[in-house]
Amino acid sequence: MTATTGTNGRVQVAARTLRTDRWWLQPLLTFAGLTTFVVYGLVRTFMNDNYWVPAYHYLAPFYSPCLSHACQPGSSHWGQWFPDFGPLVTPPLFVLPFILGFRLTCYYYRKAYYRSFWLSPPACAVAEPHKRYTGETRFPLVAQNVHRYFFYSAIPVAIVLTYDAVIAFHGKDGGFGIGLGTVILVVNVLLIWAYTLSCHSCRHLIGGRLKHFSKHPVRYWAWTQVTKLNARHMPLAWVSLFSVGFADLYVALVASGTITDLRIFN
Ligand code: FES
Repeated sequence: MTATTGTNGRVQVAARTLRTDRWWLQPLLTFAGLTTFVVYGLVRTFMNDNYWVPAYHYLAPFYSPCLSHACQPGSSHWGQWFPDFGPLVTPPLFVLPFILGFRLTCYYYRKAYYRSFWLSPPACAVAEPHKRYTGETRFPLVAQNVHRYFFYSAIPVAIVLTYDAVIAFHGKDGGFGIGLGTVILVVNVLLIWAYTLSCHSCRHLIGGRLKHFSKHPVRYWAWTQVTKLNARHMPLAWVSLFSVGFADLYVALVASGTITDLRIFN
């Protein structure tokens, strides 16, 4: 008999779960963490202000790259590709689909939000409330297969954030300088790279479709490195999410004058 994802292929157990541990805690924390990030992201996207610190060349990650004529002077390092469409179409909206698409279709985040938002299922060995389960076998969730293409789009985004971190070595009197903001942007981009390179699609791209690793020593070496990161994909997903939010918040606070950047040099 062929195994299916349909209800008929499932064991029928009357109790919702036989688990007695706190299985609900992890989906609850995941729900709280992702909801907080989404709310913060929405607020920042439509704030349309406080994302560029000209004195130190700090650009908030949520507004990078800033590709619109609506961008603040000096913040468009890669050109202004789009006209100013008014206050409702803010600069992050041009890049957000790629960043969101990469995270939303990520194998780890899929597990996280399927469990915490759709309760499908909320935890191992806990029945889901839905009557039918088709998984990712049909529309719309079959579209999750586009993840590998979002991975390609994540590479330029990481390169842009790397550029932002490099130009953040800027002093208030011009020339070289380092502030706490520089450190935060550098740490953030390192975590973004670690998360991006730990992607399952990246691992497959580097080491997949090979019959003999011995004939491809460079790809084998790269695959072993990416595999080490891949084993930490879940913590990297969380820590990079936290760091990008924190870096954005720090730049927003400095740009708005709420706090002063702690200068280490110049
Ligand atoms: S699997 Fe998570 S980013 Fe690709």
